[in-house]
Amino acid sequence: MGSICFIAFLCDPVQAARPLSANQPDSVYLFAYATNKNFNRNGLHFAWSKDKTKWFCLGPEHSYLRCDYGRWGAEKRMITPFIIQSPDGWWHCIWSLNEKDGTFAHAASKDLIHWKRQSYPVMAQGKNCLQPEIAYRHETGEYTITWISSSEPAGSTRYSTTTLDFKNYTPAKSCSGSSNKRETFVLTDTPETGTVHKVAWETVENLINEYQLVAYKNQLFNEQAADDPVRFAWLKPLHATLLVDTRQSFPISQHLFGVFFEDISYAADGGLYAELVQNRDFEYDPSDKEGNDKTWNSYKAWSLTGNQMSFHIDTVSPIHPHNPHYAVLDVASSGDGLANEGFDGIVLKAGEKYNASLFARLLNGGKKGKLTVRLTGKNGEVYGTAITRPISSKWEKYTVSFTALQDAVDARLEVVPQFTGKIGLDMISLFPQKTFKGRTNGLRPDIAQTIADLHPRFVRFPGGCVAHGDGLGNIYRWKNTIGPLEARKPQRNLWGYHQTAGLGYFEFFQFCEDIKAEPLPVIAAGVPCQNSGTGGSGQQGGIPMCDMPQYIQDILDLIEYANGDVKTTWGKKRAEAGHPQPFNLKYIGIGNEDLITDIFEERFTMIFNALKEKHPEITVIGTVGPFCEGTDYEEGWEIATKLGVPIVDEHYYQTPGWFIYNQDFYDKYDRNKSKVYLGEYAAHLPGRPNNLETALAEALYLTSVERNGDVVEMTSYAPLLAKEGHTHWNPDLIYFNNREVKPTVGYYVQQLYGQNAGNEYLPGKSSLAGNNNPAVQRRFATSVVRDTLNQVVIVKLVNLLPVSIQTDVKLDGLTNLASTGSRTVLTGEISSKTAKPVSDSIPVGPEFSCSLPAYSFTVIRIKINS
Ligand code: AHR
Repeated sequence: MGSICFIAFLCDPVQAARPLSANQPDSVYLFAYATNKNFNRNGLHFAWSKDKTKWFCLGPEHSYLRCDYGRWGAEKRMITPFIIQSPDGWWHCIWSLNEKDGTFAHAASKDLIHWKRQSYPVMAQGKNCLQPEIAYRHETGEYTITWISSSEPAGSTRYSTTTLDFKNYTPAKSCSGSSNKRETFVLTDTPETGTVHKVAWETVENLINEYQLVAYKNQLFNEQAADDPVRFAWLKPLHATLLVDTRQSFPISQHLFGVFFEDISYAADGGLYAELVQNRDFEYDPSDKEGNDKTWNSYKAWSLTGNQMSFHIDTVSPIHPHNPHYAVLDVASSGDGLANEGFDGIVLKAGEKYNASLFARLLNGGKKGKLTVRLTGKNGEVYGTAITRPISSKWEKYTVSFTALQDAVDARLEVVPQFTGKIGLDMISLFPQKTFKGRTNGLRPDIAQTIADLHPRFVRFPGGCVAHGDGLGNIYRWKNTIGPLEARKPQRNLWGYHQTAGLGYFEFFQFCEDIKAEPLPVIAAGVPCQNSGTGGSGQQGGIPMCDMPQYIQDILDLIEYANGDVKTTWGKKRAEAGHPQPFNLKYIGIGNEDLITDIFEERFTMIFNALKEKHPEITVIGTVGPFCEGTDYEEGWEIATKLGVPIVDEHYYQTPGWFIYNQDFYDKYDRNKSKVYLGEYAAHLPGRPNNLETALAEALYLTSVERNGDVVEMTSYAPLLAKEGHTHWNPDLIYFNNREVKPTVGYYVQQLYGQNAGNEYLPGKSSLAGNNNPAVQRRFATSVVRDTLNQVVIVKLVNLLPVSIQTDVKLDGLTNLASTGSRTVLTGEISSKTAKPVSDSIPVGPEFSCSLPAYSFTVIRIKINS
């Protein structure tokens, strides 16, 4: 037992943060502990004391290290941390993760503030590792780690392992004796247990500075427009100047604005993918929703229209092993139908044509006959009818088409056998003939057009978390998503629904081509999502090394599928799908905001090296974690720099305040290192609206992205699409339902950037007259670019203040400008979710003036006369 000291305590952050004077102590005690609050998810805390009697919490309870293990909401626990400092100065922290896994966690730090990647050495399957401790042997330089396993049938057993480097460990063996070098102190009102270390005062001072800095930043970053009436109560309309020296231009990326499509919130099935039948393949599975929905199975969305027929699911001799379930109808008397309700009903437009198709076969020598396929309403309305040819006893595809007789929002599709006996049915499908660009197996035209109207220069797909999946078995495999629909392999969508793979790699490539955007597929880096909850706790497992060569070959095959000659194995498959011409794939993303572990690094490096060797023409985009700081970000960047990865994918969902106060984020980036793809970002307010405040914060930040368009290659807001009633994440850029597409305010910002991109940045200097308040200055931003192809100068001005700004613009060095420019302004109430841009013309020239309304984004296009 460690010593328990119930000691009077003072946990006063103000006092803890007070700068000490000249007589500060040389050394103090530092207490490292974790509480069991929030199910042990609050990370590592420190308190300090001169005498182990009176303790000062840092923070209080500021988290200096948080656990990355396992799924959000269930894991990420840090239990009984134990810290030692080795003679080389490095601090090593180990902790227990949970009560079930035979693994503990390790992380190391030089300063107790910046921690290196975490590792989770597996010690024994099924035996937990509780209360781990480390001891260091000077003679051998070896660390001995001991722990208790309480999952032994015969009670608890102590185990130990040794390591020199916290990478390689000797096999765990049982050991005798007991140890507890932890101590317990009452810091606030409950006793906390941890390790105590004598440290230089400077160490504690640095820890104090760290949390003070974090607290200060949090205060800034949490500024919201709701407080503007008070914050800017004194502010009067402003005057600004923008001086641009057009002779100082430099080239910027021509792919700066794109989109990121992920199948989240029914973005694909039930969304962009125009299929109107839900669960067409009878492959819905309870595991799609982790068993949490009793109705989610092969029967989902299907029902019978009478009682002269029964219906069950079978798996004997399916159409294809990837599609094992099918429906069996046992028809006693003809006239009843098997009906599909669609995704929240089927929307029909009067006069439009629809194609229905299905696979069928007679079973047990059922009588030969035809099927009626019809579209019906709830009250018996018939909106369209067609009849198939006679059904045979082999699986065959039957197609019919009809014209909808009237508009409907909740129609259903019925398949009605005209005979008695048993029949097998599968892949029952209904598509409008009007798909985007008229493609077979195509996309909903209204949603696709809304995306196209952003003028995206690239499309990243298919995720996000969907790309790397929930556990190894859920990694998105592109080969499962091409070829005949009945042979594609559907799978669980980790957002809690079903992915038919009907919108697969071929369709993604084709969509990119149709909207003139570069395809940017993202492939898992041999590891699943770091928050995986299935198949092991998170990204602690990677694809086994013996399977990596095939995994890498699959990636090389993807390039052949996209770009290879029709005579190649995979190029031929592309041609068979109807596209003999290459898709001109130029980019591949490897990994998605992965946890940077040794397992990740090993696999990423293998894939990267293989791509570099076999396809130097492809630009690989690496990954640097889910945040704009922290271990994954730092170590992801280190790997990228070491390997010379051309571009890395950064992600950050932040408050509007973060975007306001971080406009210099890329100004300091080293131009000799990897370039950046800001692959996922959005401004998040409490309640997660997409409104004018979030949109203007993004617009403001994008001015700085354009300024850094020499190092930032690409950006994409996330997520792109969400279906009302099935939204797993907010905010999104475009909401939709079965009838309507609803672009958000943020959508218009993206569109204004996409439609007003340039290939040259024209540096300028903007200033607000008579005002040097940083809160004011940071809310006004400008960017000027030139589109040399179309000979236009584009001025972007963002005003995130509650007062107007009269702005004088001077474009030095350009005399041949048109005298009238087109102006588009997005403005409104700051909380508006419906603001839309409005365009007009204004007088312009090398010098002109314009008024920026309060809370507005203004884009001015000026033609350069030849
Ligand atoms: O955009 C939604 C999710 O956010 C993505 O799937 C993932 O990459 C990120 O965490």
